Amino acid sequence: MTLTEIILILAGTCTVMLFGVKLICFVMVLAPKLCYPLPESFMTSLGKWAVITGGSDGIGRAYAQELSKYGLNVVIISRNQEKLDRAARTIELATGVQVKVIAADFTKDNIYGHIMERIEGLDIGILVNNVGILPNQIPCRLLETAGLEEMCSIVLPGMQERGRGAVLNVSSGIAKIPFPLYTLYAASKVFVERFSQGLQAEYRSKGIIIQTVAPFGVSTSMTLYQKPDLVTFTAEDFVRSSLKYLRAGDQTYGSITHTILGWILQAIPTWVLRSKAFQHNFEEYVKEQIGR
Ligand SMILES: NC(=O)c1ccc[n+]([C@@H]2O[C@H](COP(=O)([O-])OP(=O)(O)OC[C@H]3O[C@@H](n4cnc5c(N)ncnc54)[C@H](OP(=O)(O)O)[C@@H]3O)[C@@H](O)[C@H]2O)c1
Repeated sequence: MTLTEIILILAGTCTVMLFGVKLICFVMVLAPKLCYPLPESFMTSLGKWAVITGGSDGIGRAYAQELSKYGLNVVIISRNQEKLDRAARTIELATGVQVKVIAADFTKDNIYGHIMERIEGLDIGILVNNVGILPNQIPCRLLETAGLEEMCSIVLPGMQERGRGAVLNVSSGIAKIPFPLYTLYAASKVFVERFSQGLQAEYRSKGIIIQTVAPFGVSTSMTLYQKPDLVTFTAEDFVRSSLKYLRAGDQTYGSITHTILGWILQAIPTWVLRSKAFQHNFEEYVKEQIGR
């Protein structure tokens, strides 16, 4: 056998193995209940309370609702007291759990003392770092953007002491690829992913799950309530699906559809994503979706 033949066989074997692993990962995504079983009591075994930032609307509110169905009491934190009270009432009426609301603006630095006071002594099992701001709903270049931490350090010490807990950091599918026109947003989500990976490495041995959840389209105020379709979920459907992947490792797209979409987008050469034609078509597509 010649050296060229050996190199070709090795390259072929590596490629087949790579795709084999990808195939196995995909099959596992198809059957989360089977591959990452969650006993009924798993959520409450982590603690009695869940804390959700940005929990009064959209994906955050859906997390609060869904986790309350597992019997967890919830703390929801966002800016608007009226929205918080409304969300709290809905959750309390539906599930009978306790709901605490905290009005705080995460763009301000001096909020953590107040939050700490309000959650002190709670047995917090789950923290969902969900709050996020999309500075421009309509795609635009950085210079056209108008105007523009630290829940983990409050909640992690308690989880560490108890040796259990889960932190869900809500990122975005668009963190996986260069994404012009949402540049700042996509870059901030890459920060969330790296932050999460580092934290998971540091705290895995303490019994704490730290996971990045990276959805694509979810119909909320952030996406101007785009009509749910094959790839755009309602917040409730997305969260129900994403929680099934809680034990699926450091990162999840939270659904089969978004996993496939992520793979497709990652297979597109980056020069296509960065091209003028892509930017133009994407801008037009979003405007059409939201009727502008
Ligand atoms: N929707 C999607 O398609 C999509 C896709 C990928 C990733 N994500 C990510 O998912 C997360 C939730 O997005 P969403 O679509 O559910 O957004 P949303 O519907 O706009 O809800 C945002 C929530 O955060 C609160 N909030 C906003 N700014 C805040 C601030 N400065 N301080 C405190 N609370 C604040 C809002 O309440 P107040 O206004 O009362 O403060 C609301 O409860 C974000 O991290 C987003 O990046 C969303």
